[in-house]
This record gives sequence, C-alpha cells and structure tokens, in this order.
Amino acid sequence: MTLPVTAPASPSASASPSAPVVPPRVGVWLIGARGSVAVTAVAGCAAVTAGLRPPTGLVTESAEFAGADLPPLSTLVFGGHDTLDCPLPKRAEALAAAGVLPPGLPAAVDAELVAAEREIRPGGPAPGDTRSPRQLIADFAADITDFTRRLGLRRTVVINVASTEPTATGDVLPPSSLYAAAALEAGCPYVNFTPSTGLHHPALAERLAASGLPYAGRDGKTGQTLLRSVLGPMFRQRALTVRAWSGTNLLGGGDGAALADPAAAAAKNAGKERVLADTLGTTPEGEVHIDDVPALGDWKTAWDHIAFDGFLGTRMILQTIWQGCDSALAAPLVLDLARLTSRAHEAGISGPLSELGFYFKDPVGDAPSSLADQYTDLLAFATRLGKAAGEHGERGDQGTGESGGSGEGEAGDRQAGHDGQGGHDKYVDRDRPDGSVGSPEPGGSRPVGDRAGEPR
Ligand SMILES: NC(=O)c1ccc[n+]([C@@H]2O[C@H](COP(=O)([O-])OP(=O)(O)OC[C@H]3O[C@@H](n4cnc5c(N)ncnc54)[C@H](O)[C@@H]3O)[C@@H](O)[C@H]2O)c1
Repeated sequence: MTLPVTAPASPSASASPSAPVVPPRVGVWLIGARGSVAVTAVAGCAAVTAGLRPPTGLVTESAEFAGADLPPLSTLVFGGHDTLDCPLPKRAEALAAAGVLPPGLPAAVDAELVAAEREIRPGGPAPGDTRSPRQLIADFAADITDFTRRLGLRRTVVINVASTEPTATGDVLPPSSLYAAAALEAGCPYVNFTPSTGLHHPALAERLAASGLPYAGRDGKTGQTLLRSVLGPMFRQRALTVRAWSGTNLLGGGDGAALADPAAAAAKNAGKERVLADTLGTTPEGEVHIDDVPALGDWKTAWDHIAFDGFLGTRMILQTIWQGCDSALAAPLVLDLARLTSRAHEAGISGPLSELGFYFKDPVGDAPSSLADQYTDLLAFATRLGKAAGEHGERGDQGTGESGGSGEGEAGDRQAGHDGQGGHDKYVDRDRPDGSVGSPEPGGSRPVGDRAGEPR
C-alpha cells in the first residue's frame, strides 16, 4: 500500500464538469515528528486509510462530521522537524515492541513511514547552533514551504507535538515559538498540542494578528484532564462541594522523561488545575504530581482523589484511576485537529479556534470548560464548516477561476504569501474570491489574535 506521491490532477482537468473531483492533498507538518505521538499518528493514519484498523478514537470519522467536508485521511501527507535522528520505521518498531502499535503494523505501513521519513528535516536549535532566532525561523519556514510546494499540497497545517518545554520567561523565543513563528511565516494554520509557549509569546502577537491564519491549542486533553472536564461540571451541577482534588500521574517514555523536569511539569500541571477552577468555579485544595517511571513507557496511570461534601456536610470520596496508552489516545486527536484546522483555513476562518476546545486542556479564545459544552461547540463548528463548503464550493473548485493555479508549485505560493525575505505581513488567503483576510461569515470568527501573547 502506497500513498500517492505525485501532485493532484491539474485544476484545468478538474474543472471539467464530467471529470471526477480529486481531493487536494493536505500537508501535516509535525514538530517533533519522530516522537511517540507523531509516529503513532502517521502509522495510524495509514492503517485506517488502508482499512487495516477501524477509526476508533477518531472523532472526525463519526457520523456527525460527515457533512463538514473535511479532507479525507487518505489525502494527509506527513513531514516535520525533529532534533533526533532515528528513522521513523525504527521508531514505529520500538512502539510496536512496547505494545503501543499493534504487532506487524509498522511492516504493513512501511511505505508510508518511509515517505514521511523522507520529509523530516533537522529541527533546532541544536547544541552549538549559531543561527540567530530570525535565521532559525526563516530556515524552518523554508522547510515547510518547500514541503508544500514540492509535493503539490493544497495547504499545510503545522502541529507541535515536540517535547514539553519549561514555561518561557523573558524575551527570548523558546524553540516552540520559533516553530510557531515559522508556521506564520509559511502561511500555515498552527496547532499546539503541547503546553509549550508556541504562539503565546508576546513577541509574536503582532505577527499573529496580521497573519489571518486560524490556530488552536494548547495541550491535548487525553486522560486525567479529560476526566476532570467531565467530573468537574458534574459536581457543580449536583451542588456538591469539592473540598480537595489531588492527582498523581505515573508515566515513562519521552514525555515522562521531559516532564521529570519540574519546570516542564509545572507548565503541564497548570492546564490540569485550570480545568478544575473553571468547571467548579473555585480552586479546590490539592495538587497534581507527575512522576517519571521509565519502566511504564507510554502507559500512563493517572489517579485522582476527590474529597467532597454532600447533603448536610456528609463527607465523601471519589477516586478514579485512568490507565491509558498516551500516544494511542493522542494520535487520533492530532489527525482530527489536522483535518479540522485545514478545513477551517480552507473556509477562510481565521484567529483562535475556540470551537476546538474539546481537544485541549487550555483552549485558545473563549471556550467553555466542560467537555459537554465543548462537544456542542465542536458539532456547531462542523456544521459551519459544512455550510462554508456550500457557500464557497471550494473543495471541487480549487485551482479554478481567477485564483486558479496550475498544479505543483502553485499551492505553496498560495499558502506561503511571504516574500522570501522573512516578511510576514502579506498573508492573503487566495482561496477566497476577494483575496481578503479574516472571516468570510458575519459574526463568524473572532478578531484575529484577540488573545495573542496572553499567557493562559
Ligand atoms: N500523549 C499524550 O497523551 C499527550 C497529551 C497532551 C500533550 N502531549 C504532548 O505531546 C508532546 C509529544 O509527546 P510524545 O509522547 O510524543 O513525546 P516524545 O518524547 O516521544 O516525542 C517528542 C519529540 O520531540 C522532539 N523534539 C524535542 N525538541 C525538539 C525541537 N526543538 N525541535 C524538534 N523536535 C524536538 C524529540 O526529539 C522527540 O522526538 C509532549 O509535549 C506531550 O506533553 C501528549
């Protein structure tokens, strides 16, 4: 089984009324492309596309999303940056040996892993790297633009799944923000699946506001926080008083090792605690701890101990134990986010995608905190995306008419409206008839970057 590596049919061919519509291919550029989450997403996408595995855990494959006109999984093409140098097939074998991927799957999707491996570029900054931040941003952006153009992709979504960084302090852009700036420079929608700073750096606020790009984040909600976003509203709605909520996480793997750094763990835990404050309306006593247990690998145990008062002050306890395989929980969300964010960009939607709060511990924009409310918003967003398809007729029309391109090379030009000299103020979504930026729908998107630079 091999994913196509040639450019899609030329737009002039697809313009013919009788010609079958070839869905354009969409790039997914993973920062941290050799990590567990990234490799599971690449291998999983190939497995589901080939019908080797069911789409369990992929929310966008459920019936509610059938009308959203999302790019099919088969059109996703992967590349990315990493600072490691271990080939993807080898990483996938290690994940299979650890029980994260089913046995035999790496061999079955070897062609796709090799194809993605070819599109991974060295990340940075490496130790001793003398490039300035500006140069690093330009180099990263050039890698992304080259990927988009060379493979004739309609657009590329950049998704950060790299190791969690300590919370950024001061003016220096941390690596996650260098990559986020590169995404803006390349004209790409951006998703931060980690708690790292990414676009939330004050130095990027102006560029973000000028970009007209959609973005989402931060920090995928896959286990303990997912449960908290369900249980918190339950306690509040039943008028039960939560006195203390304490949690411990035991995990290994690369994420466990990164989170052994107290500063990185603090960035992660802030999101978990915020969900409680937002859903309960108060901040209960208690802390969250993360322990690195290398022997557990990618398998996480998260224990929550909730002390609460019932009628007449009767004291009670709820304990939950979540035992999950982190990458298997995270990878389908990464694929969902790639599809939804790509489609949002295609539909001309810009700014923080608060409707994707369902996926995050610390959502951008004004997202509600309860999972039920977030799901309602997500479904409304899917409907909006579907309607936008009807209004714009974009999927079938792409590349035709005044904004038409002629195949390979054009897509990159269309997406990366930068001047090749590090400029970042000329992004225009040429998918849209008037070439304007911002929302095409009245009352649709919020102002671009309305919370840019606000650490949350
Ligand atoms: N798995 C989950 O359930 C989950 C949930 C929420 C968030 N996350 C976040 O997703 C991220 C990835 O998790 P993982 O388990 O895949 O971790 P991992 O350690 O397996 O992978 C991280 C990858 O990032 C790479 N990397 C580190 N610094 C880099 C840089 N400067 N440039 C490019 N690449 C760099 C590493 O080499 C590694 O390959 C973590 O930040 C984690 O906190 C995971």
